Amino acid sequence: MAVVRPSVVVALLLVLCIVCATAPAAFAGMEGVHIVGDKLGWVSNHNYSDWTNTTHIYPGDWIGFRFDKNMYDVAMVNKTAYETCDTSHLLWQYNKSVAYLQLNHTGNYYFICTRGYCFSQMKLAVLVEKRPTPTPSSAGKNIKNSASLPETRNFKFLRLALALFAVLSMIFRL
Ligand SMILES: *[C@@H]1O[C@H](CO)[C@@H](O)[C@H](O)[C@H]1NC(C)=O
Ligand SMILES: *[C@@H]1O[C@H](CO)[C@@H](O)[C@H](O)[C@H]1NC(C)=O
Ligand SMILES: *[C@@H]1O[C@H](CO)[C@@H](O)[C@H](O)[C@H]1NC(C)=O
Ligand SMILES: *[C@@H]1O[C@H](CO)[C@@H](O)[C@H](O)[C@H]1NC(C)=O
Ligand SMILES: *[C@@H]1O[C@H](CO)[C@@H](O)[C@H](O)[C@H]1NC(C)=O
Repeated sequence: MAVVRPSVVVALLLVLCIVCATAPAAFAGMEGVHIVGDKLGWVSNHNYSDWTNTTHIYPGDWIGFRFDKNMYDVAMVNKTAYETCDTSHLLWQYNKSVAYLQLNHTGNYYFICTRGYCFSQMKLAVLVEKRPTPTPSSAGKNIKNSASLPETRNFKFLRLALALFAVLSMIFRL
């Protein structure tokens, strides 16, 4: 192609936008992706201990915060800051409505809302556990789990590939 018409560029951008916009929704349902509070999301005046008590997070899993960006945000802090709702040293902060963060190592991670709601229970402490080794009795279950793992890791590549495919099919059609 010697000349790229402006309409082609616009079409390409549109496709990219659609791919990027739909990706987070697809992401949320994937194994190894944990949406804090499930359908309720990240809100104030809710005790998240039932969620943390029933959620198992392993290294490499993603944690997702869905919230009203006009009211809330989410930040990662250390244990002391979590306990006292101290917002002076944020390790990570996100204030758009869907925030995904990959938790790479075992151990505790602490999240708070920096907009005052930390004092209204909007704080979360999660423990990333060592991934259990398969036992003979649960082998079937674990085979299923490990089979879907590369899916999570390769998500970025999948998205990129989708975008690339869309772009290429567009170019060859126009
Ligand atoms: C979650 O577990 C902790 C410690 O095991 C316990 O103190 C707390 O009551 C539990 N919360 C709920 C809602 O079950
Ligand atoms: C934790 O964060 C607070 C501020 O939010 C800071 O004063 C303190 O030094 C930090 N503690 C560690 C162990 O990094
Ligand atoms: C949103 O977060 C960024 C850093 O990630 C910060 O610079 C910005 O001030 C925040 N905006 C609001 C409205 O809190
Ligand atoms: C996990 O690793 C990724 C990629 O290196 C990085 O972007 C992310 O910030 C890490 N997560 C945490 C909680 O540090
Ligand atoms: C949530 O409830 C548990 C007891 O079920 C309590 O130990 C914990 O401090 C509460 N968390 C918050 C943020 O109030």
